[in-house]
Amino acid sequence: MLNEPIIQASGIKNVRFGENVKLVQPLNLYGCTIGKDCFVGPFTEIQANVVVGERTRIQSHSFICEGVTIGSDCFIGHGVMFINDRFKDAGPACGDKSKWEKTTIGNNVSIGSNATILPVTICNGVVIGAGSVVTKDILERGVYVGNPARLKTSLPLTSTLNPHPSTK
Ligand SMILES: CC(C)(COP(=O)(O)OP(=O)(O)OC[C@H]1O[C@@H](n2cnc3c(N)ncnc32)[C@H](O)[C@@H]1OP(=O)(O)O)[C@@H](O)C(=O)NCCC(=O)NCCS
Repeated sequence: MLNEPIIQASGIKNVRFGENVKLVQPLNLYGCTIGKDCFVGPFTEIQANVVVGERTRIQSHSFICEGVTIGSDCFIGHGVMFINDRFKDAGPACGDKSKWEKTTIGNNVSIGSNATILPVTICNGVVIGAGSVVTKDILERGVYVGNPARLKTSLPLTSTLNPHPSTK
């Protein structure tokens, strides 16, 4: 038996870009808003209604699902996975958006590679260690690591976060 699969093309559709955004393809971006001076690395998907603030860098292989808002001057490492469906009813929501939950990331938040972010709020000035799993809201500036992510080090209000140099 030789069947033809249904193939949908990835690409960049209905995206609102600020000035001076740099993208590296292949990408699957649709219905989202990307602020000025942002960078998005390859093999990343950003879904409808996601909003990304100015100067935020999103490294390759990340998945940013509907319901996520990311602030300005953030760094999203390689392979960061956001989640909007907790499988609350013992399985996937199967497209029932009423079961999807939101995630809000503040400004100056750095998320290490391979972190997983469940539907939570993360305040300004937070660092998430590589490979961490964030399961609860983070409302205090600091460095958080582990699964589940826990506070490792508090950061003073005056600390300068995310001086990540632009590689543009
Ligand atoms: C979380 C992080 C910022 C901490 O850096 P740091 O303050 O220099 O921490 P240290 O290396 O001194 O480690 C301190 C402790 O935290 C632990 N730790 C560090 N990073 C960790 C992580 N991601 N997950 C779990 N534990 C971690 C260390 O094992 C160490 O534990 P110990 O005190 O029991 O020995 C850093 O380790 C990290 O994960 N950065 C992410 C980098 C990244 O993903 N960049 C993407 C672009 S390449």
